[in-house]
Amino acid sequence: MTNIGIAMTGSGSAVPAVSLDNERLSRIVDTNDEWISSRTGIRDRHLADGTESLSAIATLASQRAIAMANISPADIDLIILATSTADDLFGSAGQIQGQLGAAQAVAFDLTAACSGFIFGLVTASQFIKTGLYKNVLLIGGDLLSRWVDWSDRRTCVLFGDGAGAVVLQACDRDRLLGFELRSDGSKNSSLNLSFQGQPTELMEGINIGKGTYQPITMNGKEIYRFAVKKVPEAIEKSLFRANMTVEQIDWLLLHQANQRIMDAVAERLNIPPEKVISNLAKYGNTSAASIPIALDEAVREGKVKPGDVIAASGFGAGLTWGAAIFQWGIDN
Ligand code: ACO
Repeated sequence: MTNIGIAMTGSGSAVPAVSLDNERLSRIVDTNDEWISSRTGIRDRHLADGTESLSAIATLASQRAIAMANISPADIDLIILATSTADDLFGSAGQIQGQLGAAQAVAFDLTAACSGFIFGLVTASQFIKTGLYKNVLLIGGDLLSRWVDWSDRRTCVLFGDGAGAVVLQACDRDRLLGFELRSDGSKNSSLNLSFQGQPTELMEGINIGKGTYQPITMNGKEIYRFAVKKVPEAIEKSLFRANMTVEQIDWLLLHQANQRIMDAVAERLNIPPEKVISNLAKYGNTSAASIPIALDEAVREGKVKPGDVIAASGFGAGLTWGAAIFQWGIDN
């Protein structure tokens, strides 16, 4: 057995320049700032304008993370892009690799909706702990604005675009202290962005499916109940594996979907509000990007310090959910 651990040594984030606040959004759909902010905590979101690609925004976030980690793109062994909205269905991690000039790396996409960053963190850590790779770039990025029905007030008010990235490096002491990954495909229909094809005749007797992806559909109440029940369970299980108690958590960093979900989870776990990291008022739900964007902001503001213990949890379509207890940076 090897004795290799992982450390998170750099973070970066990027969002499109254009933002749309609740008041302006309510000019195109029947909603209002009061409804959106009181039910969700969201006030603003950034939207990619059609010329901005996911890979370009993710590359910018990655460059910032790589600079903070004080390594060069040539040092990166593996790039994982957690996304559900790749620029190319064949994957966008390769485009990011090209734009970064990370010639030695192998790059692939990972799809687990809003749980993508947590699933990616655990996946990356396995490659490091087996001794295979030393430096991994993990990105969470999504442009859900491409796939939102902008006439559906139940969903369009919730989402925004962006990307966040972290650098994970091999080290002696493992800073990933415990984790739990879960999925439940029997509840898949609660939240979808699915392909809908029509049988189209290619030649006599042979049909193929032609169509496109349909806008996001969501049973909001079901997702709300699922998150409030499953997220605390996953965090408790991760804490158990880390041999830690809730009191040892410095920061609760949840997928930024809804302030009410964050408050309810914190209350169930008995974590005081001042330990809850929240920036969804500015960005809305950025799917796989929300955890690394919030982490990066908290690190750059000096809130999260080296050695701090973070309980992070993602949840979303699949259904998927997961939690990870980790320490930021290297404190010794
Ligand atoms: N503006 C004004 N009124 C609205 C809006 C809006 N934007 N949206 C819905 N309403 C109305 C509805 O029409 C309904 O009116 P009615 O009673 O006359 O029919 C009323 O408000 C209540 O609607 P609900 O859908 O029941 O509202 P709810 O209290 O459940 O809140 C919400 C909706 C905010 C979406 C909540 O259910 C939620 O946050 N769920 C979790 C969603 C989530 O976290 N998703 C992330 C998944 S991440 C991923 O994988 C992409």
